Amino acid sequence: MYELCPETDDDTPEIEALMDLCFAPGRTALSSYRLRDGVPKVAPLCLCLRDETDAVVAAIRYWPVRVGERPVLLLGPVAVHPTAQGEGLGAFLMRESLARAGEMGWARVMLVGDAPYYGRFGFARLDGVVMPPPTNPDRVLGLELVSGAWVGVRGDVLREDSPDVRAALAEIEASVDLRQACIEVEAPNQH
Ligand SMILES: CC(C)(COP(=O)(O)OP(=O)(O)OC[C@H]1O[C@@H](n2cnc3c(N)ncnc32)[C@H](O)[C@@H]1OP(=O)(O)O)[C@@H](O)C(=O)NCCC(=O)NCCS
Repeated sequence: MYELCPETDDDTPEIEALMDLCFAPGRTALSSYRLRDGVPKVAPLCLCLRDETDAVVAAIRYWPVRVGERPVLLLGPVAVHPTAQGEGLGAFLMRESLARAGEMGWARVMLVGDAPYYGRFGFARLDGVVMPPPTNPDRVLGLELVSGAWVGVRGDVLREDSPDVRAALAEIEASVDLRQACIEVEAPNQH
């Protein structure tokens, strides 16, 4: 069994350590991090999985961004502890968080990553959507949670600068409800 929880401040140091373990040194120098700096994350979608020893074994995060004035969810990073990779935990977090994103009313999601992995969740290359350089355009992938949501959406990926949106996200992040939203889940047995 695992415990699935939205990330809270108490989880963050352990999740940061997991990210440091899973990604190359200097990950926060990536251009995608400049889109996240100073912007509250989409807290209900930032999920972590703890195992029976209460260790964080997998985590996923989301931030709001804008493309062509439209709100977009930026997925990532997602990381699974090296000792637990290939057991379906990454796929579980992807599917669970994307389902929750749809329930929250988000229409479109993007990420920068390997198409051979993310294609299985429906992500495909986004033409005309430009991440801050240096980013390989072949790794800029999108998913529609609402049919047609990416049609005609083009342009640079920008930080979410709306004070209203930031304030709303910060309020959700600080909510006590998040701390009480943990559920127990079975070990996934499929990718
Ligand atoms: C990528 C990652 C999140 C996948 O999570 P996971 O729990 O190990 O993966 P799952 O068990 O859900 O899926 C395993 C499948 O994905 C494939 N896979 C994993 N990483 C892949 C990649 N980068 N490219 C293509 N396929 C990949 C595996 O080969 C396996 O394929 P199979 O289903 O045909 O056997 C995890 O391996 C990880 O944290 N890696 C290091 C950090 C990273 O690269 N994060 C993603 C970049 S944003």
